[in-house]
Amino acid sequence: MHPTDRPRRLRTDGVRPLVSEHSLSASDLVAPVFVDATTDERVPIETMPGHERVPVSEAVDRVEEVRETGVEAVILFGVPESKDPEGSRAYAEDGVVQRAIRRIAAETDAYVIGDVCLCEYTDHGHCGVIEAAAETDPTLTVKNDETLELLAETAVSQADAGADMVAPSAMTDGQVRAIREALDRAGHEDVAIMSYAVKYESSFYGPFRDAADGAPAFGDRRHYQMDPANRREALREARIDAEEGADVLMVKPGLPYLDVVADLRREFEHPVAAYNVSGEYAMLHAAAEKGWLDLEATAHESLLSLKRAGADLIVTYFAEDLADRL
Ligand code: PBG
Repeated sequence: MHPTDRPRRLRTDGVRPLVSEHSLSASDLVAPVFVDATTDERVPIETMPGHERVPVSEAVDRVEEVRETGVEAVILFGVPESKDPEGSRAYAEDGVVQRAIRRIAAETDAYVIGDVCLCEYTDHGHCGVIEAAAETDPTLTVKNDETLELLAETAVSQADAGADMVAPSAMTDGQVRAIREALDRAGHEDVAIMSYAVKYESSFYGPFRDAADGAPAFGDRRHYQMDPANRREALREARIDAEEGADVLMVKPGLPYLDVVADLRREFEHPVAAYNVSGEYAMLHAAAEKGWLDLEATAHESLLSLKRAGADLIVTYFAEDLADRL
């Protein structure tokens, strides 16, 4: 109570760093990298300033640029040369991500994570195989159990190529178990799984869908991604994935779901990851461009807030820019 209690005593420049509870370091960050089979030069991603899609021939250079900032982990997304209803280029041995991983694993010391989903590879843009009539009947959706096999195949093909970790993001029930079993059968017991355990059906993914060309051709993802209204359900999703063998539990998006990050931190011993998504990146850039916000400061504060809420690691498009300045 005042006048005895004066929290301001601990806010002088000398003592602030000593009593600070959280900090950010390059070793907390994972940088997304986009490889594109449809181009042989780098293509800037308009909705995400500073990011580009690179051809496989530039994947190693791109990863080395990331590593020069001190960030050692990358998560790879692919834009395939062609798409079909089954997303077959997601699990092709010579798929764009598989080719990129093979080179990155052979030529760099980066920690390589493969995003495992079908939405960038299916011609309808959904995260799995769909019911034939889904296009006209909005009650129909991705066929869960038929999709599991394809996700498992995708994960194994990435591990075969040299991925250290796979990150299933399709929100298919049972995907972590299916992938763990398939990896183990293929001799990849040491490949870790970071599950997008708690992934909401969010409007903050808009810029990414432009970056990776993965917008659904019709309908939306509300029948498989989580309802933003739900908090308790997040614990249920996380518990299922933990039981199925997830090594790291991820919450996505990040900032609008800090309560959920904090819930997972409290309820689980697993490392918790937060995905600071494309919309969180794009909106700070847009405001900064207008001179309304300081980009560097707001980006730093965003990521620090994710750490404070309980995230151990953060997937973020700010990784390189921030790490460079830490
Ligand atoms: C693939 C996937 C998406 C993102 C990561 N993996 C798109 C989606 O679910 O629509 C979004 C990432 C971002 O917005 O930064 N399923």
